[in-house]
Amino acid sequence: MFKMIIEEAKNILKKDPAAKSLLEVILLYPGLHALIYHRIAHWFYVRKHFVIARWISQFARHRTGIEIHPGAKIGKGLFIDHGMGVVIGETAEIGDNVTIFHGVTLGGTGKEKDVKRHPTVGDNVVIGAGAKVLGPIKIGNNAKIGANAVVLKDVPPYATVVGIPAKVVKIDYEAFKDKENIVYGLWL
Ligand SMILES: CC(C)(COP(=O)(O)OP(=O)(O)OC[C@H]1O[C@@H](n2cnc3c(N)ncnc32)[C@H](O)[C@@H]1OP(=O)(O)O)[C@@H](O)C(=O)NCCC(=O)NCCS
Repeated sequence: MFKMIIEEAKNILKKDPAAKSLLEVILLYPGLHALIYHRIAHWFYVRKHFVIARWISQFARHRTGIEIHPGAKIGKGLFIDHGMGVVIGETAEIGDNVTIFHGVTLGGTGKEKDVKRHPTVGDNVVIGAGAKVLGPIKIGNNAKIGANAVVLKDVPPYATVVGIPAKVVKIDYEAFKDKENIVYGLWL
C-alpha cells in the first residue's frame, strides 16, 4: 500500500503543473485520497463485504467530494484533478494513466441489476471538467473528452469528442498509425 501511494503521488506530481512537492500531493490532493480509500473499499467489495465497502466509499465522498462506487475497477495512474463532484459508478472500468477533472460522471443509464451499466475507459484518456459519460460504452485509448460533453456512444481511440451529444471533432491519425489495428470507418 505504501509503495502504491508513493507511485500514485509521483504520477500526480508529474501531471499537475500546479503541484510543487510530493509531500503536498500526499497531504492535500483529494484525488489521491479518494484513490487510496477506493483501493481499500474495492478489497472489501470483491470479498463481498458490501456494507463496509460502501461505508468506506461514502466516508471518502464526505472527505473528498469524489464518489467512487467500491465495485469500480481502476487501473494505475488515475489522476482526479480538483475532484469535487466526480461520480464513478459500480460497473465502470478505468484503464491506466487516465486524467479526470472535477464534475465528471461515469454513470449508468439503466436500472437493471447484475449487468454492466457504466462506461469502460481505455488507457491515457483525458475527461474534461463536467463531462458526463453514460451507459456501458467504450472510450478508446488516448481519447480526449471535452469539458461539459455528454458522451452516449463509443469513442474511437485517439479521438477528441465535444458537445451534447458528444461528436468527434478530431482524430490524431499520426499517433494512431501502426498502434492499433482499427478501421475508423467502423466508428464514424
Ligand atoms: C476537448 C479538448 C481536449 C480539445 O482540445 P484540443 O485538442 O486543443 O482541441 P481544439 O481546442 O483545437 O478544439 C477542437 C474543436 O472543438 C471545440 N471545442 C474544444 N473544446 C470544447 C468543449 N469543451 N466544448 C465544445 N467545443 C469544444 C473547439 O472550439 C474547436 O472547434 P472548431 O474546430 O470549430 O474551432 C479541450 O478543449 C477540453 O475541453 N479540455 C478539457 C480541459 C479541462 O476540463 N480543464 C479543466 C481544468 S480545471
